Amino acid sequence: MFHLGWFVGNGYGLNSWGSDWAGSFDRSWTDASNYIQLARSLERASFDYMIFEDGLMIPNAYEGSMRAYLKHALEGPRNDPTALVAVLSQHTSRIGLIPTLSTSFYPPFMAARMLATLDHLTHGRAGGNLVTSSSHRAAENFGLDQHFEHDLRYRMAGEWVELVEALLASWEPDAVVFDEASNTYADHTKVHEIDFEGEFYRSRGPLNTPPGPQGRPVICQAGGSPAGRDFAAQHADTIIAVPLGIDGMREYRDDISERMRRFGRDPRDCKVMFMVNPVIGETDDDAEEEYSRRWAMRDSEAYLESSLATMSYFSGIDFSQFDLDEPMPDLAGQVNGHQSSMTRYAKDGADGRTLRQLVIGHDTVESLRLVGSPATVAAQMTEAMEHVGGDGYLFTSAGFDRRHIAAVTDGLVPQLKKAGAVRSAYEHEHFRDNLLAF
Ligand SMILES: Cc1cc2nc3c(=O)[nH]c(=O)nc-3n(C[C@H](O)[C@H](O)[C@H](O)COP(=O)(O)O)c2cc1C
Repeated sequence: MFHLGWFVGNGYGLNSWGSDWAGSFDRSWTDASNYIQLARSLERASFDYMIFEDGLMIPNAYEGSMRAYLKHALEGPRNDPTALVAVLSQHTSRIGLIPTLSTSFYPPFMAARMLATLDHLTHGRAGGNLVTSSSHRAAENFGLDQHFEHDLRYRMAGEWVELVEALLASWEPDAVVFDEASNTYADHTKVHEIDFEGEFYRSRGPLNTPPGPQGRPVICQAGGSPAGRDFAAQHADTIIAVPLGIDGMREYRDDISERMRRFGRDPRDCKVMFMVNPVIGETDDDAEEEYSRRWAMRDSEAYLESSLATMSYFSGIDFSQFDLDEPMPDLAGQVNGHQSSMTRYAKDGADGRTLRQLVIGHDTVESLRLVGSPATVAAQMTEAMEHVGGDGYLFTSAGFDRRHIAAVTDGLVPQLKKAGAVRSAYEHEHFRDNLLAF
């Protein structure tokens, strides 16, 4: 069996601007009812989790201006996903809920407190997607002149998570006694100052929030560089990744397993989820037709500009300066942002394709091409997972499209359930227990 997750691209944000089938979402994106509906659909399909992307700025990497980002609603606007998770906790009972938190800018004490609070509210279904944030633009919002260097960010993140874990463990599991006879709420000998002194952070402790049902909420990680993979191999319960093709997926899983063993962990204790965006039709022919139609729509000025602006944001390099009809320039060593995403572009561009061809022909959000009827896509997913040897898929989609959500949760997943490829019902109350159940 394998696991299922849903990546809410652009997070609690306007992730549908300009897309078909968004209905009223464009204007009502702040309304939690949209997400409640999505969460309930995913829970009906027994998904392990839904995860909310997040960022902490309006970018200006393209043309040195916010114009393209605000015009196309790219990487913003975004509301705080932790608040949304608190609302969703009241409308669901089993699905794991993961907001993104930046280790570079969230103070560790506040993050530990937020995660423990969400774990209480969700009754043991909270997680955190720990990202280091990638742009100078975000750093400037927190008083820095520029962001920390790529590998330094991960070194800081390692210490950050150690401190968060120490704070979450500052209350022993049996510290709360509720002893009416002695009129005692908690045994103070079981709540500890931690006196954490690191290279980057210090904290006295203890947390003033008692531990939630999971103790340590589920930790998710997303960066694919060597430093990012080491960080994940040490700390993560689940990784979300977008390697290219089945062989890339297998290489990624094997590499994480190897790194986990090096850090003394059992590779089965972290689930690597690969991003996919299937095109599902009534029949295989319908789906192929829809797939071709979508690719044809890419050859437009709006698509080109949105993609170049997104690449500029990812890399921190202004792509408006390059000639679209020349091959992609060699940017090795210049990227302080998402190194793994840019490596993917560079690999695709190695055959001399022009930047225009590369942008129109490149897919950043798919590990695997999945196109067909629900039964066909279910078979494709099962076969690929057997080859990869683990752990599951993370669905994503461009825009908030209820038609697509239904195709996945009410068309595809029932086929996967019938084949015994995914769970047919949740076995456990808590998120981590479901995640590690197989
Ligand atoms: C599937 C996926 C989801 C991500 N989600 C976020 C996010 O929500 N917020 C963010 O700041 N970065 C996000 N990132 C970026 C990573 O956290 C990381 O900063 C980036 O990949 C650069 O790290 P790397 O050089 O190790 O790849 C995501 C990356 C991937 C692959």
